Amino acid sequence: MSIYRKKENITVADVRAQKGGDPIVCLTAYTSLTAQLLDDHTDLLLVGDSLGMVLYGLDDTLGVTLDMMIAHGKAVMRRSSRACVIVDMPFGSYQESPEAAFRNAARVMKEVGCAGVKLEGGIEMAETIAFLTKRGIPVLAHVGLLPQSVNTAGGFRSHGQDDEEASRILADAIAVSNAGAFASVVEGTVEPLARKITETIHIPTIGIGASPACDGQILVTEDLVGLFSDFTPKFVKRYAELGQQIADAAKSYSEDVRSGNFPGTEHCFTMRRSNNKKK
Ligand code: KIV
Repeated sequence: MSIYRKKENITVADVRAQKGGDPIVCLTAYTSLTAQLLDDHTDLLLVGDSLGMVLYGLDDTLGVTLDMMIAHGKAVMRRSSRACVIVDMPFGSYQESPEAAFRNAARVMKEVGCAGVKLEGGIEMAETIAFLTKRGIPVLAHVGLLPQSVNTAGGFRSHGQDDEEASRILADAIAVSNAGAFASVVEGTVEPLARKITETIHIPTIGIGASPACDGQILVTEDLVGLFSDFTPKFVKRYAELGQQIADAAKSYSEDVRSGNFPGTEHCFTMRRSNNKKK
């Protein structure tokens, strides 16, 4: 059975049950407008902390705050009715202790009304994932390339190239699965490793730069539509060139304004006759 059920919310349980079934379609959304456009076509919308780079022009995700995630999470919830909405926990909001993670994740759940939260990390976060899930907060895990650890992990590179790193990432995936995560993002790993993780763990894997064998796929929407072109990773497939279209539209508008072609009479309000008579 597909989890595509129009007019009904897709829950984390539906996503979890999709292990080994129809591919789970996921995209990022940060705004109401995007959420509205994507809702009918996706199973899961992630309010990712990638918004720090995509919307706020930050160099990485480390400067993103809980307040930013809550504000964007609320915006996405206002215009999505079907997709399962998950909000990323930003750097510093969950690593300190399971208790701190619970406090901040509970705030996100209450204020946003989303279906769950995502956090990065493997074995070192397993205790926190178990703490949250046992207390009613569904967790989407995230293993492999961890953007919030960019300073300690040696930058944005593919992971699992050597046996030692591959075994460590597989152990991370097993740990988050056993800890109770309902699914796990697998980011930026070599294909055979992502395939092996998918075959090994009992929760769905959502791949990004991972493998077609993953149970689902996710991309940053602005990458997919050609709106964010600061850096296009190898694993992105562009389905539109909206950035170029916006730049072209702005250029045409500026030429029209400068040449007096805009606004035309059709864009101006005329006086109502009755108003004229009264005067
Ligand atoms: O922040 C984000 O958008 C993410 C996805 C790319 C998985 O973590």
